[in-house]
Amino acid sequence: MPTPHSSVPKVELHCHIEGAAPPSLVKRLAEREGIDVSGIIGPNGKYIWSDFTSFLKAYDLASSVFKTPADYGLLAETYFRMLAAEGTIYAEVFISPDHAQAAGLSYRTYVEGLAAGIERAKIDTGIEGRMIAIGVRHFGAASVERVVKEVIGSPHPMVSGFGLAGDEREGHPSNFARAFRMANEAGLGITAHAGEFGGPESVKAALEFFQVKRIGHGVRAVEEAALVDRLADEQIVLETCPGSNVALGVYPVLRFHPINILKNRGVRITLNSDDPPFFGTTLGKEYSSVSNTFNWSENDQIAISRTAIEAAFCDEATRQRLMVRLGSAQKNAGL
Ligand code: ADE
Ligand code: ZN
Repeated sequence: MPTPHSSVPKVELHCHIEGAAPPSLVKRLAEREGIDVSGIIGPNGKYIWSDFTSFLKAYDLASSVFKTPADYGLLAETYFRMLAAEGTIYAEVFISPDHAQAAGLSYRTYVEGLAAGIERAKIDTGIEGRMIAIGVRHFGAASVERVVKEVIGSPHPMVSGFGLAGDEREGHPSNFARAFRMANEAGLGITAHAGEFGGPESVKAALEFFQVKRIGHGVRAVEEAALVDRLADEQIVLETCPGSNVALGVYPVLRFHPINILKNRGVRITLNSDDPPFFGTTLGKEYSSVSNTFNWSENDQIAISRTAIEAAFCDEATRQRLMVRLGSAQKNAGL
């Protein structure tokens, strides 16, 4: 029987805020700025791209229409309200200081704009949020280190993590080891994209050079049995994004996605939407489509949310509050 997604409190650890921009909002701001987005938003109002490279280009152009702290505030408020409407109680979003800088915004004003939007959504809906600043791998190690230094030099209570995104096929992982060491020593939570377009070697390199306990995607670890055992033994948390992987052609259909194999082998799994309107998904859809495909019960879904809360880059008081919310929803559902 299909599982309704509305009653399970949801938690998201992996979504790029620029990648969560509704095409209608991007189009409106593009008109204001005189930016032509007809190459990335079709007449049907959906994003246009064909592979990972053209997706990254479309993402860059869509990001370029956000010019002011208020624009970013509106983006964050819009996304967090959408999440809350699907029953999400906590979300971490990746923020990209490089994209803000390209649009002419300082790190500080970018973060303050986003934080104001997250706060407004919280006041109305109760959803809790944090931000993870990311470096873009294909921009190179110097650019990634600049991001870490900005985050450390201008601390903000809602920026609780540092991560690495972008094209995993570029740049040896050792190039980024120093950036991760700085982030780790500063007490930031750390995560890195690996095992999306790279195979098991890329996941092993992230563990070795970045010392991460959370990995963005990580799913291609399934190609090496010993690595799957290691992920389970070391309790590494995977921020899986199954809809994104299917949309980008990493797997042909959801049925062939390794999430259920990894879960059954004892790997700690979370569910995430990555860049939802680009991939025709939402966090709620990820919970429901994966649960329907692999016959996950509501208790299985609650366990996914619990893992995400355990791995969240938040303070312990917030974590406890989220656990209480999850527990009472479970009790009310008679589970
Ligand atoms: N930036 C935005 N979405 C991404 C993805 N799926 N992988 C790597 N970098 C990204
Ligand atoms: Zn991602």
